[in-house]
Amino acid sequence: MKATLVTDGVYRLSANVHDILFEGMWPVPHGVAINSYLVRGEKCAIIDGVCGWDGVPETLLAQLDELGIDVNDIDSVVINHMEPDHSGWLEAFRKIRGSFSIYATGRAKPLLEAFYGISDNIRPVKSGDTLDLGKGRVLAFEEIPNVHWPETMATYDTKSKTLFPCDAFGSFGSVADDAPYDDTLQEEQIEFFEREMERYYANIVTLYSQATQKAIEKVKGLEVKIIAPGHGIVWRRHPERVIRDYTRLAGYAKGPARAEVAVIWGSMYGMTGLGVQPVVEAIESQGVRTRVHRIPESGISYVLDSVLQCSGVVLGMPTYDYKMFPPMAAVLDEVGKKKIINRKAFRFGSYGWSGGAQKELAEINERLNMNWDYLEPVEFKGRPTDRDGALLRQRGVELAAAVKRWVLGDAA
Ligand code: FEO
Repeated sequence: MKATLVTDGVYRLSANVHDILFEGMWPVPHGVAINSYLVRGEKCAIIDGVCGWDGVPETLLAQLDELGIDVNDIDSVVINHMEPDHSGWLEAFRKIRGSFSIYATGRAKPLLEAFYGISDNIRPVKSGDTLDLGKGRVLAFEEIPNVHWPETMATYDTKSKTLFPCDAFGSFGSVADDAPYDDTLQEEQIEFFEREMERYYANIVTLYSQATQKAIEKVKGLEVKIIAPGHGIVWRRHPERVIRDYTRLAGYAKGPARAEVAVIWGSMYGMTGLGVQPVVEAIESQGVRTRVHRIPESGISYVLDSVLQCSGVVLGMPTYDYKMFPPMAAVLDEVGKKKIINRKAFRFGSYGWSGGAQKELAEINERLNMNWDYLEPVEFKGRPTDRDGALLRQRGVELAAAVKRWVLGDAA
């Protein structure tokens, strides 16, 4: 990767990472960019770093070389967020630049010690504190706790009106050297990053949607010309677009989301699977789009994305060992823990000697305070009969109507 100029005195240093599971669990088939920024006044500061992937720290050092910046010119490192994809660079940087100040919130301090054994030269900051780099360049700090960890803050360059919010406003997806900004991308390329943003949000940020809404309110109080996040592209032409995207996604966690239905299903011998098509056809006959995932084949990363995007959810699963089909229990546990609540829902499925899936479903809904509003289930012994097929179609129509009423109100 090459260092690129964001605006006068602000440079983007970045690494694209492929062939990893992000956070050890989320697939990134299109890669993910991790961005660091160099801000230049009379003195230089680095805002955030890049984990030790993709040849880092050497790649970042090469990028500093390109800019003609000696590492010894860097007096300050701002750590907006302690998750090691951004702070992991510190250890390597300390080996080549012995003494520099670290600006981070007070909450980051124990993590600096715990992760990297760093306890000196830390300057704890809080909202409203500033760092004057000289030549009129003053960085202002604003705490945005829990976007994504409790210690997180955003940094704002008062000179260029650039906001560095770390995880907030980020996305998955590798970023090309020659097109790292929204104003250097075609519309379809921006839409690609918005799609990557949806799964990134669903996987990483959803649980913190309330905190994200608070952070967005703080951002709206600033004059922001550029949003330069820790992942994904930099928004120079239309920063309001990514603020709008994040406002929408943060609202989806509590719902309503889109007027669409996620159909999540699993089947042992195909009996429950026979119920999928009638339900999907019935929903779509009402003009409501479905997103269908068979589990466990479809990974949790993609299922979470669809459940977050959709106001309606269909769960198709059989009883297994007197309980719910285990891959579905695992999915619901994760969805509930991410606090994707208030969905219009419907469950169907097959059983053999006894039921049990329905009972466990009610327990999970209660235990995780999901508040999903379920239609009457359709359960069948063995293979669904014609009557069961008719009931499944009826429920599909009812669910589509409920979703439309909720999302569209009188326009439904
Ligand atoms: Fe990109 Fe929460 O770290």
